[in-house]
Amino acid sequence: MGGLRLLALVVVTVAVVHQWAVGGGGVMGNFVFEVENKFKAGGERERTLSALKQHDARRHGRMMASIDLELGGNGHPSATGLYFTKVGLGTPTDEYYVQVDTGSDLLWVNCAGCSRCPTKSDLGIKLTLFDPSKSSTSGEIACSDNFCRTTYNNRYPSCSPGVRCEYVVTYGDGSSTSGYFVRDIIQLNQASGNLKTAPLNSSVIFGCGNRQSGDLGSSTDAAVDGILGFGQANSSLLSQLAAAGNVRKEFAHCLDVVKGGGIFAIGDVVSPKVKTTPMVPNMPHYNVILEEVEVGGNPLDLPTSLLGTGDERGTIIDSGTTLAYLPPMLYDLVLSQILDRQPGLKMHTVEEQFSCFQFGKNVDDAFPTVTFKFKGSLSLTVYPHEYLFQIREDVWCIGWQNGGLQNHDGRQMILLGDLVLSNKLVVYDVQNQTIGWTDFNCSSSIKLRDEKSGAEYSIGGHNLLSSAFNLTVGRIFMFLPVLFALLQSFSAF
Ligand SMILES: *[C@@H]1O[C@H](CO)[C@@H](O)[C@H](O)[C@H]1NC(C)=O
Ligand SMILES: *[C@@H]1O[C@H](CO)[C@@H](O)[C@H](O)[C@H]1NC(C)=O
Ligand SMILES: *[C@@H]1O[C@H](CO)[C@@H](O)[C@H](O)[C@H]1NC(C)=O
Ligand SMILES: *[C@@H]1O[C@H](CO)[C@@H](O)[C@H](O)[C@H]1NC(C)=O
Ligand SMILES: *[C@@H]1O[C@H](CO)[C@@H](O)[C@H](O)[C@H]1NC(C)=O
Repeated sequence: MGGLRLLALVVVTVAVVHQWAVGGGGVMGNFVFEVENKFKAGGERERTLSALKQHDARRHGRMMASIDLELGGNGHPSATGLYFTKVGLGTPTDEYYVQVDTGSDLLWVNCAGCSRCPTKSDLGIKLTLFDPSKSSTSGEIACSDNFCRTTYNNRYPSCSPGVRCEYVVTYGDGSSTSGYFVRDIIQLNQASGNLKTAPLNSSVIFGCGNRQSGDLGSSTDAAVDGILGFGQANSSLLSQLAAAGNVRKEFAHCLDVVKGGGIFAIGDVVSPKVKTTPMVPNMPHYNVILEEVEVGGNPLDLPTSLLGTGDERGTIIDSGTTLAYLPPMLYDLVLSQILDRQPGLKMHTVEEQFSCFQFGKNVDDAFPTVTFKFKGSLSLTVYPHEYLFQIREDVWCIGWQNGGLQNHDGRQMILLGDLVLSNKLVVYDVQNQTIGWTDFNCSSSIKLRDEKSGAEYSIGGHNLLSSAFNLTVGRIFMFLPVLFALLQSFSAF
C-alpha cells in the first residue's frame, strides 16, 4: 500500500446506514437497513423549511456569536493532506486537535481506555485522550436521551435504563471508530473584536472513541485526536451550537494550500460577499447542481444522464476530501481535453494510484483551466497548478480521480474536495440553504457580523503548524470514499 492511507472522510451513500449487530451469547444476528432520507418527501421538506423559519423567528434577538476556529494542516496531497483545528473540552479544559470535515456530522475524540488509539503524531502536535472520569462537567448520554433517540430514529435496540448510547462509524478503507456519546463543555473562541477572541463555552454531545481500527488506530502519520464533522445533521456541532442559540447556522472556510492553515469561521459572513448557488434540499451532504463543465473555455458535451435531473442532480462539496472524484465519462472527457494540449507527455503510475509525468515548464502556461458552472451562474475555476500536484521537482501528478461516488440509487455523484476548494472563501449558509465562494487570499481576513454588539469583526487566517512537520518525504495521502454508519452493537450479558 506504500503511502496510501485514510485521509479524509466522506459519506458515500446518500442514506445513512444503521448497522445493528444484536447479540445474546455472542453476536447472533447482524442486519443492515437503510434509513430513507428523513426529509425526502416534498411535504416534509416544506414543513422543514417552515420549521426553520419559525426557529429563526424565535431566535431573533438572541445573542449569536461568531466563532474563530484556528486551522492547521495543508490539503496538498504531498503535504499533510488534511486540515484540523483545536477545541477545548471538559473541566479542567484540555485541548484536542480534530480534523475538520464537512462530509460527516459527528464530533468525536479518542478517549481514555481506548484500545489502539494513536498517542503520537508525526504532525508534531500533542495528542490527548479525553477522560470523562476526570472532567467534572461530563456526563454519559443514555439510550433514552432525546439525542440518542433522534440520532437512531427511535430504533435503538433494547434500550433500558442505564444503557448508554453507543456509535460506530465505518470509513471506506475499512477503518472505523466506535465509542459512546458524552455531554461536556466545549470551549471555542468567539470574536470579541477585530482579530480578537474571547472564550465561549457551550454544552455539547460528542463521541468518546474507545475502539479504533485501521488507520484511525495506531498509525502516527498525520494522526489527530478525532474528527469534527461540519455536516448539517442535528447531531453536528454546528446544529447543536445553533440549537443552543449560540450561532447562526452558517460557516466559511478558506483553505490555504500554499502556506497551510487558513480561515475557518462560524457565523454571518458579511464580507467578502460571495455569489451563491442553492443547496440541493434535504440531502445529508452539501450538494449543489452542476450545469456545465468547460476545459480551456470550451464547454464539454455532457449527456444529461451525467448531470441528472431535478433533485437527483448533485455534486458534493466536501472540505474533508483531498482530491476530486469524477464519474468515468466526465473524467475521460476532462483528461483528454487537458492532455491534448501536451501530446508528448509520458505518463507513469505512482503509488499504484496516480498518473504522473515529467514536466519542467510552468504548468499554468501549458495546460487549460477547468471551470465548473453551477445553477445560478456561479462558477468555479480550477487552475492547472491546483489540479496538478508536484511530488518531486519536475514531476507532476494529476489530481482528478476517476470514479464518482455512488448514491443509494446507484447514480454516480461528483465529489469536489480541497483540490478545487483551496484558496477560495467557501461560505455554507445552512440556514438559507445556499453555498457560494469567491477567490480569496486565505492569509488575509473576512468580516462577520456579531449579533451581540451589532459590530462587524474580522477573523483572520491561522496556521497551527507553522513549523515543519516530519512526514515521510514524497508520501501521498489520499482520500478514500467511505460508508458512514451509525452502528449499535451489543455484547452478550
Ligand atoms: C468555561 O468552561 C471552563 C471549563 O468548565 C471553565 O473553567 C471556565 O471558567 C468557563 N469559562 C467561562 C467564560 O464560562
Ligand atoms: C522532526 O524530526 C527531528 C529529527 O528526528 C526532530 O528533532 C524534530 O523535533 C521533529 N519535529 C517534529 C515537529 O516532530
Ligand atoms: C432537528 O432540529 C430541528 C430544530 O431544532 C427540529 O425541528 C427537527 O425536528 C430536528 N430533526 C430531527 C430529525 O430530530
Ligand atoms: C436569508 O434569507 C432571508 C429570507 O429569504 C433573507 O432576508 C436574508 O437576507 C438571507 N440571508 C443571507 C445571509 O443571505
Ligand atoms: C495575502 O494577505 C496577506 C495578509 O494580509 C498579505 O501579507 C499577502 O501579501 C497577501 N497575498 C497576496 C498574494 O496578495
